[in-house]
Amino acid sequence: MDVKKHGLSEHLSPRGKAVSRLVWGLVASLIVLTGLLLNNSLNGPAVVVVGSYSASIATAVPLRPSVANVTEGPRQRPVDTEEKIETDNASKVIENGNLDGLFPENPQLGNFYESVKNETLVVGIANANNEGSSSNKEGNVGEDKAMEPKDPGADGSFEACDFFDGRWVRNGRSKPYYRPGSCPYIDKDFDCRRNGRPDNGYIKWKWQPNGCDIPRLNATDFLEKLRGKRLVYIGDSLNRNMWESMVCILRRSVKKKKRVYEISGRSDFKKKGIYAFRFEDYNCSVDFVAAPFLVKESSFKRENGSIETLRLDLMDPATSMYRDADLMVFNTGHWWTHEKTSKGEDYYQEGDHVYPRLKVLKAYQKALSTWSRWVDKNVDSSRTQVFFRGYSVTHFWGGQWNSGGQCHQETEPIANKTYLTNYPSKMRALEHVLEKTNTPVIYLNVSRLTDYRKDAHPSIYRREYKTEEERNRAVGAQDCSHWCLPGVPDTWNELLYASLLRAGKGIWGN
Ligand SMILES: *[C@@H]1O[C@H](CO)[C@@H](O)[C@H](O)[C@H]1NC(C)=O
Ligand SMILES: *[C@@H]1O[C@H](CO)[C@@H](O)[C@H](O)[C@H]1NC(C)=O
Ligand SMILES: *[C@@H]1O[C@H](CO)[C@@H](O)[C@H](O)[C@H]1NC(C)=O
Ligand SMILES: *[C@@H]1O[C@H](CO)[C@@H](O)[C@H](O)[C@H]1NC(C)=O
Ligand SMILES: *[C@@H]1O[C@H](CO)[C@@H](O)[C@H](O)[C@H]1NC(C)=O
Ligand SMILES: *[C@@H]1O[C@H](CO)[C@@H](O)[C@H](O)[C@H]1NC(C)=O
Ligand SMILES: *[C@@H]1O[C@H](CO)[C@@H](O)[C@H](O)[C@H]1NC(C)=O
Ligand SMILES: *[C@@H]1O[C@H](CO)[C@@H](O)[C@H](O)[C@H]1NC(C)=O
Repeated sequence: MDVKKHGLSEHLSPRGKAVSRLVWGLVASLIVLTGLLLNNSLNGPAVVVVGSYSASIATAVPLRPSVANVTEGPRQRPVDTEEKIETDNASKVIENGNLDGLFPENPQLGNFYESVKNETLVVGIANANNEGSSSNKEGNVGEDKAMEPKDPGADGSFEACDFFDGRWVRNGRSKPYYRPGSCPYIDKDFDCRRNGRPDNGYIKWKWQPNGCDIPRLNATDFLEKLRGKRLVYIGDSLNRNMWESMVCILRRSVKKKKRVYEISGRSDFKKKGIYAFRFEDYNCSVDFVAAPFLVKESSFKRENGSIETLRLDLMDPATSMYRDADLMVFNTGHWWTHEKTSKGEDYYQEGDHVYPRLKVLKAYQKALSTWSRWVDKNVDSSRTQVFFRGYSVTHFWGGQWNSGGQCHQETEPIANKTYLTNYPSKMRALEHVLEKTNTPVIYLNVSRLTDYRKDAHPSIYRREYKTEEERNRAVGAQDCSHWCLPGVPDTWNELLYASLLRAGKGIWGN
């Protein structure tokens, strides 16, 4: 979609203030970018409108340009900046605050959810702070050391192991969970093979915790355990990325592929609302609910007009779509940026109070507290296991690899720890909130493991190119935020499975 003036102005009301700020902020950023990028974004195929839910054509643009030769050196990159600018016309639905359009018409849906059995899923307390980690090993990216998946529990260290403290090892023999290009349910934006990504080294890595081995995700086993149940991913497009990974992993093990389907028949998963993949043979469903902030996007009337706000004290009404799930996987993070939150000015709202100014981190923590209270109030932990997936690190950076400071043509993970970023402050805030949450939540602490993987983003292969020229122009607008599938989110799901086996009593135990 071209950026047309009317295309932009369509979005100026009632979310006008934030949107126009964002747009002009973006334009300013683009101006300091290379002429190539400027040119691309104004004339190119992809681009820009903000504050809505993704798009048929979504562009990742670094808002804080990371140009080569940044004086701060190669470690400098905008980790806390969500670079993804999304174009969409689904935002109208949200603007109206009208949820009617968000529920699939298919009546099966309601029935299915109501009919999910009140089975007991007993789970243990997630041990977020592990004592038994051995984090002082040097090699981060090593060679596969002929390792077989161990029977979880057979190894004493499995129980105490910090799954997220580890390294990537080349995985010579074992295969990805599904062949690249083979799963029809991967967003075009993540289907790097189909979009022509020529290298495939990025699918040949396995995450190796330092303190233990983790089993491969046994899809048959997982589906058996999910029988009659619902697994729901809730959050932003990074969780959609993770959800699609899980759908593809599980689908691979099912013989009759037709018996796996999205129940409303949609194949585009980018609008707000719920998407539910039903696995007929297992009578279960694996769903995604878009709620990028988890809390409620709202608006506030003033004498001189209405402004877009974010209610830090209220959950996104989408809770109705997942409150009965058996497994919930939350995330939020990438939308909590200056650019997407009106610089924090006149944007965050609690009750009738709109903060003239509030720091993103503070707002994030308030929202997570709201989430935590909701979980404690609504989740029956004898039946439901809650996960929170941590911040997925982006790689819009300058440095020794290419002149643009982006992630195109990265084919190896980071090998030298010096180039890893600090643990995101948002995740520290999350940890504080989790400490105060009574419901056991398993924290999938993926920041570090994603940090290594500069090689595994779609970069320019977020879409297909018809001509070489088109492709060359795309170099200026890469996605270094989401992940190619198969790829890194498969590992998140593998760790989710391992965490369930470890925490699991009831059906998740042995
Ligand atoms: C980057 O550094 C190289 C060599 O040090 C120099 O030739 C080039 O002009 C610099 N580029 C920018 C954008 O500063
Ligand atoms: C909005 O979506 C419809 C249907 O997907 C499409 O036909 C139309 O071109 C879109 N409009 C814009 C402005 O993107
Ligand atoms: C499918 O699961 C639902 C909810 O758990 C249950 O009520 C129903 O009996 C199951 N159907 C079959 C065929 O097992
Ligand atoms: C469902 O589970 C809740 C909480 O564990 C329990 O109070 C209720 O009796 C159960 N209902 C049925 C029909 O088993
Ligand atoms: C996977 O799980 C199924 C069902 O529990 C089991 O029959 C099978 O042996 C497992 N496969 C592997 C490779 O462990
Ligand atoms: C709108 O009203 C608010 C106070 O209600 C004020 O802070 C703001 O400056 C006003 N904006 C304009 C453009 O007048
Ligand atoms: C990692 O990078 C730093 C800074 O460039 C360098 O000093 C150090 O020797 C590197 N370490 C390894 C193991 O290559
Ligand atoms: C998560 O991982 C980071 C390293 O990236 C570590 O500093 C932090 O303590 C971990 N958090 C928990 C709760 O294990």
